[in-house]
Amino acid sequence: MEKKLKIAVLPGDAIGPEIMTQALRALEVIEDLGRAKFEILTADFGASAYFKHGSAFPEETQSICDQADAILKGPVGLSYEESQKIPVEEQPERGAILPLRARYNTFANYRPIFLSAKMAHFSPLKPEIIGDGIDILLIRELVGGLYFGKKERGLNSDGERYVVENLEYKESEIRQILVVAFQQAQKRKKILHNIHKSNVLMSSVFWNEILEEVRKDFPEIKVVNLLVDAAATALCLKPNQFDVMVMENMFGDILSDQGGGILGSLGLMPSACVGPTKSYYEPSHGSAPDIAGRNIANPYSMLGSVAMMLEMSFGMEEEANILWQSMKNVFESGISTADLRSKTSDEEIVSTSSFGDKVIQNYRALLGP
Ligand code: IPM
Ligand code: MN
Repeated sequence: MEKKLKIAVLPGDAIGPEIMTQALRALEVIEDLGRAKFEILTADFGASAYFKHGSAFPEETQSICDQADAILKGPVGLSYEESQKIPVEEQPERGAILPLRARYNTFANYRPIFLSAKMAHFSPLKPEIIGDGIDILLIRELVGGLYFGKKERGLNSDGERYVVENLEYKESEIRQILVVAFQQAQKRKKILHNIHKSNVLMSSVFWNEILEEVRKDFPEIKVVNLLVDAAATALCLKPNQFDVMVMENMFGDILSDQGGGILGSLGLMPSACVGPTKSYYEPSHGSAPDIAGRNIANPYSMLGSVAMMLEMSFGMEEEANILWQSMKNVFESGISTADLRSKTSDEEIVSTSSFGDKVIQNYRALLGP
């Protein structure tokens, strides 16, 4: 019998379970059509896991993730008030997400920033700036830098409190993410924007030195070095100059949210977190506790994360492409959800589950015999 692909499913908190339900329907279509078999292993993760098990990333969830071929993760986190009921080290960001990234060394974070021309009305940018649409691949280093450097808090000899947070990278860590970025640039438009802050940070000077070494293996790629602050402006003024962008962890956290901003919503931002042996897939956005349980969140970022998993973990390129196409078709036919609503357009606003229905109808029709 055909091998079942094991997927650890971590629905997460707030809107997580709602959008995950829709995302899993795409896998059912693939199974119904006999294209693959999946074994879904659902596990608790995030704030809900903390309240149930006393840990945001419980041991049982760890072992389920260890066994899985890929991990599909929903957003985690609760409102500020609810989070205060959780000890700082168990709050979902520190207690679950960072340990998940560290456990599987998911150093390469792929964040596509994509909007077709027909979806331009979602964006706050003027149509003439968007032109034929936006299609950027932001590659973010995900397991180093300030996020994982040594941290210290204390009282100095003057009796004043202080904090130290280190931005640390080894050369191999920089090299491996740059290689990923160059490889992606090679597959796409052969232009790579290297985002740095070498006018101030020693870490960026070092990063750029490694880049000069790595680029020797990729002579066809045009490299553009751009300061991170200038990149923030350029993303708003002329997003189409970018194709593949690469940067360290913290820069990538900030600029990828700005990517969501130029699309009009973080709800349009799926992502892949790729490690040497295992990868996990998640929306780039948070768990939106303010709209949880109302069936209004758009499931695009979760379905897009499924598409990325199909392609990157399972080599199912056709199934992935057609899933993207199905979502695009639904948006381009004028259907959207309340969380994405753009005030100027006259879209038909449907619920999370009806949006899922439409995507799945399209998917079945396009993928079917
Ligand atoms: C993201 C998120 C995380 C990050 C948080 C939740 C730890 O903002 O994936 O971008 O900062 O990396
Ligand atoms: Mn972020």
